Amino acid sequence: MTDSRAPIHLRSAGVSVVVVPSPEPRILHWGGALDDSDIGALEDSSTGGQAYSSFDLPRIFPLLPRERSGWSGRPSLAWHRGGQFSDPAPRLAAIERPDAETVVFRYADAAASVDLTLRLDLFGILHHSIHVSAAESTDPLDLVAVRAVLPVPAEATEILDFTGRWTRERHPQRQPLGYGAHVRENRRGRTGHDSAFVMVAGTPGFGFRTGRVWAVHTAWSGNSELAAERLPEGAGVHGAALSSGELLLPGEIRLAPGESYTSPETLFVFSASGLDGLSARVHAWLRFQPAYPSAPRPLVLNTWEAVYFDHDPARLGDLARLAASVGVERFVLDDGWFVGRPDDRSGLGDWVIDPDAWPDGLGPIADLVHDLGMQFGLWFEPEMVNPDSRLAREHPDWILSTDEDPALWRHQLVLDLTRREAWEHILEQMDAVITRTGIDFIKWDHNRDLHAAVSRATGRASVHAQVEAVYALMDELHTRHPSLEIESCASGGARVDLGVLAHTQRVWASDTNDPIERQAIQRWTGLLLPPELVGAHIGPERAHTTHRSASLGFRMATALFGHAGIEWDLAECTDAELDALRAWSALYRELRPLLHSGTTVRADLSGTANLLHGVVAPDAGHAVFAWVQAETGPNAAAVRVPIPGLDPASRYLIRERDELTSADPHQVLSPAWLDGPLSASGAMLCEAGLPLPVMNPGSALLLEFVREPA
Ligand code: GLA
Repeated sequence: MTDSRAPIHLRSAGVSVVVVPSPEPRILHWGGALDDSDIGALEDSSTGGQAYSSFDLPRIFPLLPRERSGWSGRPSLAWHRGGQFSDPAPRLAAIERPDAETVVFRYADAAASVDLTLRLDLFGILHHSIHVSAAESTDPLDLVAVRAVLPVPAEATEILDFTGRWTRERHPQRQPLGYGAHVRENRRGRTGHDSAFVMVAGTPGFGFRTGRVWAVHTAWSGNSELAAERLPEGAGVHGAALSSGELLLPGEIRLAPGESYTSPETLFVFSASGLDGLSARVHAWLRFQPAYPSAPRPLVLNTWEAVYFDHDPARLGDLARLAASVGVERFVLDDGWFVGRPDDRSGLGDWVIDPDAWPDGLGPIADLVHDLGMQFGLWFEPEMVNPDSRLAREHPDWILSTDEDPALWRHQLVLDLTRREAWEHILEQMDAVITRTGIDFIKWDHNRDLHAAVSRATGRASVHAQVEAVYALMDELHTRHPSLEIESCASGGARVDLGVLAHTQRVWASDTNDPIERQAIQRWTGLLLPPELVGAHIGPERAHTTHRSASLGFRMATALFGHAGIEWDLAECTDAELDALRAWSALYRELRPLLHSGTTVRADLSGTANLLHGVVAPDAGHAVFAWVQAETGPNAAAVRVPIPGLDPASRYLIRERDELTSADPHQVLSPAWLDGPLSASGAMLCEAGLPLPVMNPGSALLLEFVREPA
């Protein structure tokens, strides 16, 4: 226990979080770095005046805001014991400082017999979690809500969050932060195509490069809620509150004496330099996590759009040879390899190799792929079951629904992995295929929402337990196969969150490979995820999902800025296309160390015609940018565009990398500087910029910046 009255100052990477412990712990500051010598004045000025028609004391905003503490917004805690003790009254019992980045507040609610721990860790971003333990009592403790709530200053008056649908995930929506609550609830049982993803509150007009922003993300793959809430009386001396938590279903978390619940971790991220600053903090943190992949990201070929369910070993062998010939490093066999799976109407749940499609098993294709120098990946959808499967026929009780006739979605139902016997059955089936075949990578899919996910074993809502069971299954497979990598896919990008990324090595951001759609999806997925964790594939000229055509150059330039791959039947390609893919894979390998370790940079441009995004090396000595013409714009000739993120004090040699694509001009001549290398200072590039060409819609220009010797 530390001195219970001394303020606690967590400080890391330009961020300060100051908490004063008494009369009960409350945040004095979450934002830019302060000096220890500032804390006294901060504390002395920590209460506002007393409002008309209000409490007889100035309001404060504690770490656990709730009605009893005078907060009339969404409370941090809501529970009851058999209808009683519905007024949480946690009192601080102890404060622990296990290390300089961490503070743990221990509380007890004696009346309700509840012990509670709130933990904050600041590693540039603030990690917040709450642990609730039910002590001795005759009645179980029903949890209604456990939320992480933090105040944001009154200058944060605009909010950004996300929505989406299949093939259009993480689409931004912005609005003023008005009075009341802006709440995004996810009741889909998975993260969802329309996930709010992250909720950002910021200063008016904040952008990628400008503005002060405060953001919140729930690191969880089940039901969840994010909210920004602003009340006329403020939040203590702050303007509004951001909150995050698991959305608990009725009766879902009922704690017997001695049982406990830990909230999913919430990430709170402050940036004084706009959304790029926010991304830089999260990317840096993710790159140090245990689940972060340790090897360079191999160039992928995924078979889905090449063959769909048509698994012909000879054809797939030819595809593997072609893949190796263009430089692919990981060959992934998608859906269709297991028994009873001629299409998507049957087979899920039976993870046994189909003897009709693969009479010799998967061993020969895996061996061929390995002999060609590639890794072998395989598709699974472990949480799902088709009614037309052996598993569903033998174990009807393993369906996660108490509805006798549950609604199908892609002809499938959810398997109740909270049942130990079901979990073990799937684990052993997967383990057998992985071990016998030599699987290096799993594409882990999840193709439906969970609806009324009540376990037949317990009669209880089971989304929380299902998510925990899935994470545990992933972890067990990693333990048994330490070099195995897992991709989180869910009908494209419906399970993209930092919860699942603690157990997986990449996400499939979307089922669309249309580069126009992908530019937007990758840009916004990149708000939290660094490029190397985001699968980005080249599809055929005419995208299967939108039927829009795009040049190969544009498709290649788009896929370059991710964990790159191909999702195309290479047998259809002309020799010229195969040569272009070879040049692309060589460029990917050349630039991969930069693209997968650097800082993601996005320019703030007016209008939607162009995007300028790039990756700058940590020492700013090297950078690659893409200038993208997504649609036609109002400009007839090139105008100067500032190039952000370079070192103002360095000089750079700038050249077009035209191996994949060169400026496809929509003007008689492109700017002359593109013809030869140009030398310019980072200051000039940032302040004045370069005239970037007007191009035909659906094209990209790649620019490389290399620091010149001093
Ligand atoms: C989902 C995935 C696709 C593909 C199919 C296979 O839709 O998002 O990439 O794997 O399933 O059925």
